[in-house]
Amino acid sequence: METVLSGIRSTGHLHLGNYYGALRNFVKMQNDYNCFFFIADLHSLTTHPHPDDFHASVKIILSEYLAAGLDPDKCALFIQSDVPEVSELYVLLNMLAYKGEMERTASFKEKVRLNPENVNTGLLTYPVLMAADILVHRANYVPVGKDQEQHLEITRVLARRFNNMYNCDVFPEPQSFKFGSGPIKVPGLDGNGKMGKSEGNGIYLYDDEKTITKKVMRAVTDSGPTEPNSEKPVVIENLFTLLKLVSEPSTVDYFEEKWNDCSIRYGDLKKQLAEDICKVTLPIREKIDSIYNDEAFLHRVTSEGRDKARASASATLALAKKAVGFRAF
Ligand code: ADP
Ligand code: TRP
Repeated sequence: METVLSGIRSTGHLHLGNYYGALRNFVKMQNDYNCFFFIADLHSLTTHPHPDDFHASVKIILSEYLAAGLDPDKCALFIQSDVPEVSELYVLLNMLAYKGEMERTASFKEKVRLNPENVNTGLLTYPVLMAADILVHRANYVPVGKDQEQHLEITRVLARRFNNMYNCDVFPEPQSFKFGSGPIKVPGLDGNGKMGKSEGNGIYLYDDEKTITKKVMRAVTDSGPTEPNSEKPVVIENLFTLLKLVSEPSTVDYFEEKWNDCSIRYGDLKKQLAEDICKVTLPIREKIDSIYNDEAFLHRVTSEGRDKARASASATLALAKKAVGFRAF
């Protein structure tokens, strides 16, 4: 069975974009692939989170992923820092990663621009740590968004370079995983293209009904269609895109008809949209709290995940160290 792997950032709560763009696909993939999913807590250290908040943010994101359907019995679900083999491989790969190529990475340049006061070398070698995450499990596929494509390319370069330098084939070159229906982009409700944490326009799985309703009712609209069957402006198209994700096809058809004959009332559309978003998110929200407070369950999940991940990682690391020339005394 082929191996799929994905790292999950441990900052903030999950929003509908994360859910429809990534998580829901992870839930499906668990049945068909050997899956490794982990919370990338080491990566989050680049921004120096406060020690008092560090653990809680990992716990929140772990609880949300579990609540939304990741099944620890079907995949290896673990915390990156619980697998020391990753850090060891990171050291080995750092010797093959050149300063110039790291400096040319788009994400690095962006971070330097945004935070010129914190250009640490962890940030510079962020892609090397990501390569270690992937290569330590010899993953075949990595589902990544556009912003991570370049990191995956660096992973392939490092895999190739390692295999060439040590004349071995320890690391397969991972490919980006394409979902059947192609990538979907969940729009924001503020007229901005994309729903995102940094965009500040997220509808979160953890939002309660009142918050969701308020956010949806506030969505930007226009003054309404003036001609039958006209094209929708972007803000209205965004509402329909969300409706298509959460509502029954008959509901979407109903509002399409209303749009086409110019009798649409945005208030009705938004009310329906808020209700249907709640139908998706509220059952997940209910589970989040109980999982978050179930210490025994989280302990079991992370221990079993760690054991599965370490078994796979230590086997790869042994091959890599042998190739480099390490020998026991
Ligand atoms: P954010 O910082 O907004 O939470 P990330 O950039 O950390 O989002 O993305 C995490 C995952 O969620 C990625 O796989 C990304 O492709 C997916 N994702 C995030 N926002 C969206 C969106 N609006 N539409 C579709 N997928 C999204
Ligand atoms: N860098 C990824 C992000 O920002 C998270 C991540 C860390 C990751 N290691 C990974 C993703 C390995 C895929 C594979 O979203």
